[in-house]
Amino acid sequence: MSINDMRQDVLKETGAVFFIFGATGDLAKRKLYPAFYALYKEGKLPERFAVIGLARRPKTRDQFQADLLQSIAEFARYKVKDGDEEWQKFSEHFEYMSLDINDVEGFKELRGLSERLELKFDIGGNRLFYLALAPELFGSVAQNLRQGGLLDGAGWNRLVIEKPFGYDLPSAEKLNKQICEVFKEEEVYRIDHYLGKEMVQNIEVIRFANAFFEPLWNNKYIANVQITLSETVGVEERGGYYDHSGAIRDMGQNHMLQMVTMMAMEPPSRMHPEDIRDEKVKVLRSLRVYGSPDEVRKNVVRGQYTDGVLRGKPLKAYRSEDSVNPESKTETYFGARVYVDNFRWAGVPFYIRTGKRMPVKTTEVVVEFKNMPDNVYLAQKTKLQPNLLVFRVNPLEGIYIKINAKQPGSEWMVIPVAMDFCQSCQVGLNTPEAYERLLYDAARGDSTYFTRWDEVALAWRFVDRIVGAWSEGDKDLQFYPAGSWGPEAMDRLMAEDGFHWWPINGQEESGVLWVKGQE
Ligand code: BG6
Repeated sequence: MSINDMRQDVLKETGAVFFIFGATGDLAKRKLYPAFYALYKEGKLPERFAVIGLARRPKTRDQFQADLLQSIAEFARYKVKDGDEEWQKFSEHFEYMSLDINDVEGFKELRGLSERLELKFDIGGNRLFYLALAPELFGSVAQNLRQGGLLDGAGWNRLVIEKPFGYDLPSAEKLNKQICEVFKEEEVYRIDHYLGKEMVQNIEVIRFANAFFEPLWNNKYIANVQITLSETVGVEERGGYYDHSGAIRDMGQNHMLQMVTMMAMEPPSRMHPEDIRDEKVKVLRSLRVYGSPDEVRKNVVRGQYTDGVLRGKPLKAYRSEDSVNPESKTETYFGARVYVDNFRWAGVPFYIRTGKRMPVKTTEVVVEFKNMPDNVYLAQKTKLQPNLLVFRVNPLEGIYIKINAKQPGSEWMVIPVAMDFCQSCQVGLNTPEAYERLLYDAARGDSTYFTRWDEVALAWRFVDRIVGAWSEGDKDLQFYPAGSWGPEAMDRLMAEDGFHWWPINGQEESGVLWVKGQE
């Protein structure tokens, strides 16, 4: 029996109560309730479970159940019908309680409710507290959980928290201290939802399970690695939050650096959460930290979108978005040349970029291999293109490999050929959502795809130095029209090294023969 099967059994044997703080919020509606439903449909949630929705707003159980049904009908992967037997059975497990999170008495009442549900569903005292709340509230919730006696149950306690984990290293340290006064590090599950994505998890498998790649996975054979997390959306209703955060804090500190660690880490000694996270920490320790304004200027690009056009639709500038300062210097684009200064990666640039209002929504990682020497025959007619290995993470899932082959019928004419495995085309859109996986893992006690405190701290160390250099002036803020690929300065930075971004997401290059294309 695998470790995963054993973990699943533990969940089935003793079950758990899930406490959702922020039960009326967007995350709960769009992600968490649909995730519970998918896990239930797939038999991953035992009958021994209960979910308590918690928010300040008073609501009856019936109202809560109606909201639950609506959110599942709208956002879940599985269809639901009011009145069908399965839905009735599932919704039985959900309760709602209005709670003022500063009031210890309310927490004592919550403990009573939890004990009643534990009895009703024969749950062995395990409690998972999911804080879908603003981080400023984490500390007082943790304290009140303790004072309200909610941590004195017979089973395990786990705390699941959402990003952002701090605003910089000092604020993250403060937050961590507050949490650690109540919970042990191994009880804390810090969510980075990118780690729950199928293809991000697949990076490890592709790397470590294929003789093709691992022997070449180093600075002898790899020329550069390109990581793109682009979004077409602007800041929508989140201008207030985003204007204080910016792309580097919102996406760089967490999702992007996590992707770098997955690409660069050494094979772990065992497939055990702590061993895997130890390897990721080593990557973060080896990241070259840019300290001086000059180093930052040479290696980092920050941009902000101005008005522009996306697929024929005019878009307003970031500074005109709701709740954004009209003179804002906040970056909506962050790009950088990053180095992992260790034996494996010495000298290999990792180009990373993320931005709002870009032409496509995509997450993609391209590994560009070093060129073969142009030999006498081949160089005569064609300039060889480098081999590429591309991980498509989102929204398409799959990998493709670009190799060189002889053009059929020609005499030594070499053309690039792309071999394409489109996972999402095969299993459709029905792959588990990141939140399903992460909720399931937290309930089973598997912390592999959650960030440990030392990872968070090292990532802040990297980001804080860059932001510190920026605040010495805003001359380096570049502007790019909404709907474009961001500031040209990033292209120039790559051109200095003789590289360029490879086209994204199957925007196939002309002249490449696609062996098995995607739709
Ligand atoms: C979140 C950021 O963490 O990730 C958002 O706060 C961003 O600004 C989102 O839009 C992107 O996630 P995904 O899964 O849609 O790529």
